[in-house]
Amino acid sequence: MDHPVDNPSLTHGASALLKTLLQVNRVYIKTYGCQMNERDSEAVAAMLRARGYRIVSNEADCDIMLLNTCSVRDAAEQKAIGKAGNVAARKKKQPDFVLGILGCMAQNRGAALLDALPDLDLIVGTQKFHQVPDYLDNLRAAREAGVPIGSSIVDIGEEAGSQNTIRDHLEVDTRQVSAFVSIQQGCNMDCHFCIVPKTRGDERSRPMEDIVRECEQLAAKGVREITLLGQIVTSYGRRDYVHTDGVSPFVQLIEKVHAIDGIERIRFTSPHPRGFKQDLVEAYGRLPKLCEYVHLPMQSGSNRILKAMNRPYSRERYKEIVEALRAVRPDMYFSTDIIVGFPGETEADFEETRELFEACNYDMAYIFKYSIRTGTVAAELADQVPEEEKERRNQVLLDILRRNSERRNATLLDTVEEVLVEGPDKTGERFTGRTRGNRVTIFDADPRLVGELVSLKVQRASVSTLYGSLVLSGVEN
Ligand code: 5AD
Repeated sequence: MDHPVDNPSLTHGASALLKTLLQVNRVYIKTYGCQMNERDSEAVAAMLRARGYRIVSNEADCDIMLLNTCSVRDAAEQKAIGKAGNVAARKKKQPDFVLGILGCMAQNRGAALLDALPDLDLIVGTQKFHQVPDYLDNLRAAREAGVPIGSSIVDIGEEAGSQNTIRDHLEVDTRQVSAFVSIQQGCNMDCHFCIVPKTRGDERSRPMEDIVRECEQLAAKGVREITLLGQIVTSYGRRDYVHTDGVSPFVQLIEKVHAIDGIERIRFTSPHPRGFKQDLVEAYGRLPKLCEYVHLPMQSGSNRILKAMNRPYSRERYKEIVEALRAVRPDMYFSTDIIVGFPGETEADFEETRELFEACNYDMAYIFKYSIRTGTVAAELADQVPEEEKERRNQVLLDILRRNSERRNATLLDTVEEVLVEGPDKTGERFTGRTRGNRVTIFDADPRLVGELVSLKVQRASVSTLYGSLVLSGVEN
């Protein structure tokens, strides 16, 4: 059916009235990049819905499109710019259509985005997500008052306390079992390859009691698994709280979340090897809800390159942390971030990365080809590594990863794994959930089991997914 607003038989006045009645308020949010961005988008969606906007899941149905962007690599920025360029064409047909760019690329490029994308209505940085509803209200009011299209709102300022504004969760129709909770914004580490300190600003932590309250509310709504999110979670609260009996503020926070009834699993991302101290290792020994899955970014296995990256740890220290964690939890799963082709990375440096990568026996890894980010120290370095060489090194690590993953999955065949049932799988015919080691599983189940911890006998595995059938707890099939 035609959208009534576009019905040619309506007079202009009636059409304008209908538009006002319908409010032209359907918002589609597209998210690029990390889990932090996913979480920010979710909070923006919740704030917009509270303001009377409708969140739609099909972009063809929207009046307002918001792209929440990523700047960590050039490819991510180019993807969002390409998308915005395509969408801008829609304005010709739909003059009231609103297009906004939010998040890291908005922060990184600011009003300069208008040079490439003059049709943008809204550019909102990472400390101003909570302003999005006001800005959309203003844009719509301006349109109605006849302010010419072409006047854009740009806000990429800093704002004290903005870390406390990412706290709303979108109410969804299906039960939400697993939730991300933002504990901190920004980063002060100054890794020489990284644009994040520029896009996300100074490191700021949310108050512990706010985070705990949010987790309690989520638990009351049926959430069973919490992932604590921050750029450098191991530094959580270091300026605001003291260590007690050698326990860091981050581990104190984990303890508090651990004490919440209904929360069955706790994860976090991302820690920094520098802050991964003994108290956190020991937490895995005494806090059973802390899942045995650690994402620990290595970046490089060469001490020379780590130094050039301004990553203050050595390959030896990194390995020590991995071994300490395996000593506490022998079944620990590991994942990591690696950058191949950092400026000046020689074949010998890469060989050290390959060797440490193999030794750590990762179950999962994100391997990135170094991407020049203007404004970072590494962007100015000579000795950039040719693209083909980055690609070759990337493939070497991916091959190792695939073999590791297959090896791990083979050990899981015929074992019984604890799975948290999340909901229907993509086909809608079966169910999906994850193991404590973060492996995705697919199985037949009853809808009443969503949100429950079940026992799954693993019968088949692909590289990334386990397939099996449910068994009654403690009863072998
Ligand atoms: N080039 C490639 N990868 C990068 N990362 C951060 N900056 C860059 C860059 N300039 C990777 C790091 C980080 C992850 C989120 O992105 O591995 O941990």
